[in-house]
Amino acid sequence: MITNVTTESTSASVATIPCGPCVLARTVAVTKTYGTGALATPVLHGIDLELRAGEFALLMGPSGSGKTTLISILAGLLRPTNGLVELCGEVISDASETFVTRVRRRAVGFVFQSYNLFPALTAVDNVAEVMCLKGMPRSQARDVSRQVLTRVGLGDRLMHRPSELSGGQKQRVAVARALAGEPALVLGDEITAALDGRTAMEVMELLHAHVSAERGVLIVTHDRRLERFADRVIEIEDGRVVGDLRDMQRSPARREP
Ligand SMILES: Nc1ncnc2c1ncn2[C@@H]1O[C@H](COP(=O)(O)OP(=O)(O)OP(=O)(O)O)[C@@H](O)[C@H]1O
Ligand SMILES: [Mg+2]
Repeated sequence: MITNVTTESTSASVATIPCGPCVLARTVAVTKTYGTGALATPVLHGIDLELRAGEFALLMGPSGSGKTTLISILAGLLRPTNGLVELCGEVISDASETFVTRVRRRAVGFVFQSYNLFPALTAVDNVAEVMCLKGMPRSQARDVSRQVLTRVGLGDRLMHRPSELSGGQKQRVAVARALAGEPALVLGDEITAALDGRTAMEVMELLHAHVSAERGVLIVTHDRRLERFADRVIEIEDGRVVGDLRDMQRSPARREP
């Protein structure tokens, strides 16, 4: 394990370690400290993690343990203080903002707890917007958006704005937006917290269907009911990975959605 290294030196040393094509994201010795001086708050303490295609993984742990911080770093939304972050084969921890944004748009679909939808746009345009940002012509993006929204059960709500949708419907728009570009990695942060049990299971089933030989999903959650969807449960406490349980240690019955 590499410890006490700067981002630069970690990148140089780890770039030579081969990682298979099925590794979607990787962190090596990642640390995060918010603030500086007397206000410095160390939050992550050397996270080594690999997320692989074919996995539906959960990231669990107590409030304040660093889950949102870690998933934001994996998505390239937040920089680590030290350590290496690789997303779909690209080192993003010390790359330019433009490069990180490009890799994120290509590789990641992120579902936020608070949906993060554009309030003025219809469901169709909320989903289409992301594909337009990737360069798809608007009319084609709208066609794809209609198809994905129909797949998530919102075919009769295409022209509704977020304020005209229920919480579960808004979350399904957010999931449709994350899935529409067929990203290799879908990340979600507490996405079922505001949903009733049945809607939460429907949303999880949509995400579960996304997993394939080339694609994977990682969801941050406190919700133990979601464990039955998971191939892997990563436990974090005080900014350290304290458990990492894969499917071979789990009963098949628990995994059946
Ligand atoms: N911008 C920030 N500045 C300073 N400290 C922060 C900042 N963001 C988070 N923290 C601190 O970092 C720690 C980890 O926060 P984080 O949001 O990653 O935890 P979490 O595991 O997602 O918690 P929860 O389950 O409550 O969402 C917390 O102690 C929090 O107070
Ligand atoms: Mg959080």
